[in-house]
Amino acid sequence: MKILKTIEELQNIRKTITSNVGFVPTMGALHDGHISLIKQARKDNDIVIVSIFVNPTQFLPGEDLDAYPRKEEADKKICELCKVDYLFMPKISTMYSKEEILIKAPNKSYILEGLSRPGHFDGVLQVVLKLFGITQPTNAYFGKKDAQQLSLISQMVKNLFLPINIVSCEIVRESDGLALSSRNIYLSSKQREEALLISRSLYSAGALIAKGEVDVKIIKNRILEIMRTLDVEYVAIVDRDFNEIKEIELKNTIILIVAKFGNTRLLDNIWL
Ligand code: PAF
Repeated sequence: MKILKTIEELQNIRKTITSNVGFVPTMGALHDGHISLIKQARKDNDIVIVSIFVNPTQFLPGEDLDAYPRKEEADKKICELCKVDYLFMPKISTMYSKEEILIKAPNKSYILEGLSRPGHFDGVLQVVLKLFGITQPTNAYFGKKDAQQLSLISQMVKNLFLPINIVSCEIVRESDGLALSSRNIYLSSKQREEALLISRSLYSAGALIAKGEVDVKIIKNRILEIMRTLDVEYVAIVDRDFNEIKEIELKNTIILIVAKFGNTRLLDNIWL
């Protein structure tokens, strides 16, 4: 595995690659969720590029940019074990100049995640577009856990006619159901136990729907009842374009939850 820090190095290598390139953009602190994306990329492509870059433009003032977990050495080892070909680890000054072209995410970026983090997705799209420009991947891999991010990146690729195939990968969970997240390390053991109510409520909603329930109000009430002791930021039931719906439509529904545990926000969802 080669570790690259500059855009020139990566671009020079990219020019010589004529086969399929799979790209997994990350902010590091790699866990099994990232590993599943890298493994999928390894399976599908001749060359795999992973980037690790904690992107400042997607953090709002007061958010955890400085405290965001950084585990460079462990991350390098994981990438090596996963047989990544190139690990791109640029500095902020490599990725950004003083004055930048700004990307404006569409209106649907200001609901749900974007409502409490206005402008967050502008920063995500800006950095992902830069990374796509540098790596020019055939396939790029994103987790379904960040469902709104996945939807907006897919829309960007479509709207800007980028010749990149976006591959969406399943959520990876602990054996007790907790969705993996780099932020799980902030949870106390009590909070971690309480957090299990999130996936439990999603499973319960899934079971209700499997029995034939389609009324979104009833399903939401069941979820909220199970999570009644939690500080729930939102429960949303939307179609794959993130429009609110009244009835479940199979193969076109996502149920999303965000709950807060002290300063830690956990998100989870299921795709039906
Ligand atoms: O999902 C993430 O880790 C980040 O939002 C991404 C896509 C790497 C952009 O910084």
